[in-house]
Amino acid sequence: TGRCVVAVDGPSGSGKSTVSRRLATALDARYLDTGAMYRAVTWAVLRSGVDPQDAEAVTKVAGETDLKIGVDPEAPSVTADGVAVDREIRGPEVTAAVSAVSAVPAVRELLVALQRRMIEAAGRIVVEGRDIGAVVAPDADLKVYLTASAEARAQRRSTENAADLAATAADLARRDRLDSTRTADPLRQAPDAVVLDTTSLGIDEVVARLHDLLTGRR
Ligand code: C5P
Repeated sequence: TGRCVVAVDGPSGSGKSTVSRRLATALDARYLDTGAMYRAVTWAVLRSGVDPQDAEAVTKVAGETDLKIGVDPEAPSVTADGVAVDREIRGPEVTAAVSAVSAVPAVRELLVALQRRMIEAAGRIVVEGRDIGAVVAPDADLKVYLTASAEARAQRRSTENAADLAATAADLARRDRLDSTRTADPLRQAPDAVVLDTTSLGIDEVVARLHDLLTGRR
């Protein structure tokens, strides 16, 4: 039970959150959802009435927001300025604005520094996001890149959110495009990442495979 950092990256709907939480529990490790951090800053931006496209104003809000992230894989939590925002950050308003906020370089610098401190403090932790293996924790013990077909990802998300399939597919395509084409730390596969396509793999299979990779059984 020494230090162990696992980086899990990939687009939305690739199964990152479920896989990361289950793997963290199996490893008796902590779990950090970096997407929730970008979402919480976005929530604070919207609450303060700032335009998500106004990089300067967004940076100011990000710097002034007190984020607290709970890293228990069984009960992850986020508060922004003392407000529990776990539900609000999954809503359509935040989801629509988060790619603009996360494209601001100063916001990324701030959150990446916070993420590194949290990883350091936890020691054993599974971290999920878009740039974890490439930027946040380049020395992770295991880097995973999860993918799945666009159809499978839209299907999963629309079931999760009880939302319309076509609208969900359009939103995912829009976020994928924004997240992979931005200049600051775009979504990308670290060269040394293990790539797993989860289109037809069950969650249990994916978790078992990653667990085996870490414990060196295959
Ligand atoms: O993972 P999730 O869908 O909750 O992430 C929400 C958004 O946060 C992504 O669409 C992306 O814009 C941003 N994000 C990021 N870097 C991360 C994690 C999330 O830019 N490490």
